[in-house]
Amino acid sequence: MLARTGAVDSAQAVLSLRGIVKSFPGVRALGGVQLDLYPGQVTALVGENGAGKSTIVKVLTGIYQPDEGQILVDGQAVHFPTAQAAGHSGVTAIHQETVLFDELTVAENIFIGHSPRNRFGLIDRKAMREQAGAILNSIGADLNPMVRLKDLSIASRHLVAIARALSIDARVVIMDEPTAALSHKEIAELYELVEKLKSQGKAILFISHKFDEIFRIADRWTVFRDGQFVGQGMMADVTEAELVRLMVGRSVEQIYPKRPAQIGGPALTVVGYCHPTEFEDINFTLHTGEILGFYGLVGAGRSEVMQALFGITRPSRGACRIGDDVRAIRSTAQAVEAGIVYVPEDRGKQGAVKGLPIFQNVTLPSLTRTSRAGFLRLAEEFALARDYTQRLDLRAASLDQDIALLSGGNQQKVVIAKWLATKPRVIILDEPTKGIDIGSKAAVHDFMSELAGQGLAVIMVSSEIPEVLGMSDRVIVMREGRIAAEFAGDQMTPENLVRAAVGSNGGTI
Ligand SMILES: Nc1ncnc2c1ncn2[C@@H]1O[C@H](COP(=O)(O)OP(=O)(O)OP(=O)(O)O)[C@@H](O)[C@H]1O
Ligand SMILES: [Mg+2]
Repeated sequence: MLARTGAVDSAQAVLSLRGIVKSFPGVRALGGVQLDLYPGQVTALVGENGAGKSTIVKVLTGIYQPDEGQILVDGQAVHFPTAQAAGHSGVTAIHQETVLFDELTVAENIFIGHSPRNRFGLIDRKAMREQAGAILNSIGADLNPMVRLKDLSIASRHLVAIARALSIDARVVIMDEPTAALSHKEIAELYELVEKLKSQGKAILFISHKFDEIFRIADRWTVFRDGQFVGQGMMADVTEAELVRLMVGRSVEQIYPKRPAQIGGPALTVVGYCHPTEFEDINFTLHTGEILGFYGLVGAGRSEVMQALFGITRPSRGACRIGDDVRAIRSTAQAVEAGIVYVPEDRGKQGAVKGLPIFQNVTLPSLTRTSRAGFLRLAEEFALARDYTQRLDLRAASLDQDIALLSGGNQQKVVIAKWLATKPRVIILDEPTKGIDIGSKAAVHDFMSELAGQGLAVIMVSSEIPEVLGMSDRVIVMREGRIAAEFAGDQMTPENLVRAAVGSNGGTI
């Protein structure tokens, strides 16, 4: 049933890769992998953090040159020395790093590098506007082609990136974790778009760590593990458990290893927190040793409350008590000083310091905290970083490596390690396992649970119901900027959480 030879009717594939090898100093990122993409079908590429998914995308789009192996388009060997060459062969990628220009209009961004020209060889602005409008229309994007990009939301920019991909008449569209930065509504729109692209006969490569979305939109699967091809087949013939086993090389049963912890006295008490626009009347107490889940729909105000607790924004009213001290937290430095840290959902911004080695990324904030007592010695620094990164299942060639060279998911693990290493009293984790593969998720959860067992108080904001229910001692549900409900024990059920989050008083949802 699982075709491990890879001989899945490659005759019809629009694009095939054979025996692709790509090494970086000290790392063999791809060790002879294959991949086949078919017209009108979505192929999901799955694998752990660091398996080589983004690297293959870069080979496919001419950003990296493979050391060995072949790229076949319609069965003919081709070379992609540049991104333009890949574009000419109809291969295009939509990823977070798609280069768009803030100061240019939507239409200019779509056509940059291949604008329609008039008979004098000048850019034909009218044609450009019309064609941009037509492409945006074809993907159901209600955007004005003349608006400057800087005035658009992230989701709209995404649509521009997609329109750009389609403007070069792409036959192969690659999406590398496209839904990681999108809200529920935007994700639904992206799925619709994928359906449209399929119906136009495009071959789609879809990279995601979210199994529900893979099973929803993919026709085929391919698994990489440690830079090796493990297998490929049809989604209809595979179960989630089988895919996970192929990915991590073992079965993952205990995904939520929550251990019962000794719940102690109040670690953080929040009284009457209000914000002029984002939230109102937030009251709760978090105890030592407790993992308190925050569930809600995107936009319910969870992250905004957390940002206020961490001193990024200020509440208009309310007070908070850390342990027995009443504190006004007016800056992140004060929050860290008081023992509260926040690991934001958008780890790109607050996260990795590119250009610094992994170990320094981990120890940076701890250093500033301990500098009064003298600098951490290099060996100690290293040991601290090793300890924390190992617990989070970091995959890196060495801790001396520049963090920028890590895979996306592994960078996230470093950012989590860095905040945990400050030994806070209270840690707020916003979507802690977003972008982290299913095998490493267990490691992250296990470490959280162990630290709670040692008396750390944890707030976990998560939109994943199994994670919230599996890890939390108690769950607060927010809706429209307010606390809508709180559940513990038997009351912590998926139905209760969803009902409270959407505001329905019973009936079906
Ligand atoms: N420019 C580079 N220099 C050195 N090593 C690199 C470079 N790019 C990638 N790597 C390494 O290659 C391996 C594969 O990384 P890649 O980004 O392809 O993983 P991935 O499957 O996309 O993971 P994730 O799910 O975390 O995004 C990793 O070990 C990574 O550290
Ligand atoms: Mg990646």
